[in-house]
Amino acid sequence: MKVFVTGGTGAVGSHAVPALVGDAHTVTALARTPEKAAALTEQGAEAVSVSIFDRRALAEAFAGHDAVVNLATAIPPMTQFMRAKAWRDNDRIRTEGSAAIVDAAIEAGVDRVLQESVSMLYPDRGAEWVDEDVPADPFPIARGNLAAEANADRFSDAGRTGVVLRFGWFYGPGARHSEQILALARRHVGVVMGPAAGYVSSIHMADAGAAVAAALHAPAGTFNVVDDEPLTKRDYARALAAAAGVPMWLRLPGRAALLFGDRVTSLTRSLRVSNARFRAATGWAPRYPSARDGWVATATALDRRPH
Ligand SMILES: NC(=O)c1ccc[n+]([C@@H]2O[C@H](COP(=O)([O-])OP(=O)(O)OC[C@H]3O[C@@H](n4cnc5c(N)ncnc54)[C@H](OP(=O)(O)O)[C@@H]3O)[C@@H](O)[C@H]2O)c1
Repeated sequence: MKVFVTGGTGAVGSHAVPALVGDAHTVTALARTPEKAAALTEQGAEAVSVSIFDRRALAEAFAGHDAVVNLATAIPPMTQFMRAKAWRDNDRIRTEGSAAIVDAAIEAGVDRVLQESVSMLYPDRGAEWVDEDVPADPFPIARGNLAAEANADRFSDAGRTGVVLRFGWFYGPGARHSEQILALARRHVGVVMGPAAGYVSSIHMADAGAAVAAALHAPAGTFNVVDDEPLTKRDYARALAAAAGVPMWLRLPGRAALLFGDRVTSLTRSLRVSNARFRAATGWAPRYPSARDGWVATATALDRRPH
């Protein structure tokens, strides 16, 4: 297939582009700087510069492509999560950006749109498994993601194939937040967002990249893209400590995070998310079924990374 990727230089994009090229797809990817363009070319993609808010230019760029993969995001640094202003860029990308991309894809005759979203949209379900039939919870920070999902559904309503990928917590090389959490674990601090018995569903970046390539063969719809074994937040912190190779002395902030309210609710709620539907629809399987293995591989990869 001829595939156009936005966000191809980011955490999931930098794994998705090589996965798509590796599956013999012809990849065009949006680059915002000459350095990023060079990195994409290095990965075997053709780099182009276009604004994700410019429908006309996007339609021209998408011409001749079979699929568009929208992985553009601007999530603020964790230290900025509490500031409403810090989410503005991401909200605009999620709402106006995804609308422009879908309109342009319809105009350009593209058959398929893949839209990045998150599984942290679901309501807190304790230890109950969560599948795609559970209605999303439209809390304030979720609105951008829900708008992007609605645009992908609009693409399907136009008789094309819109696929929404609800990723779990990203971790692995290139996922900045996760690298910061591992650095804290190396200082004996285990990050636990909310009650320790609550569940977190995560996905290693390599598996997220492979899932994007697999989703080119998925039917229209919404799919959870997480690993096979959501862990309690207590066990997740233990997996981090084991990967860091040092004992965990402190678990923070724990229940106190609930005091931060809506701004961090996507992180504090308990989400035991099932990937069964995506596995069945695409045959995809995670190389790291559990964060226990994935974090060890991540720590090793980061240690090997040239400084
Ligand atoms: N599911 C999850 O858990 C999840 C989801 C997203 C992010 N995160 C975490 O949050 C950290 C920061 O995230 P991030 O959102 O900055 O993502 P990122 O992974 O660093 O990359 C975002 C991608 O979107 C592109 N982009 C941003 N603004 C754009 C715009 N206005 N027009 C076109 N493309 C644009 C970026 O291009 P440039 O390379 O040119 O900047 C980049 O390719 C990540 O490293 C990861 O740890 C987690």
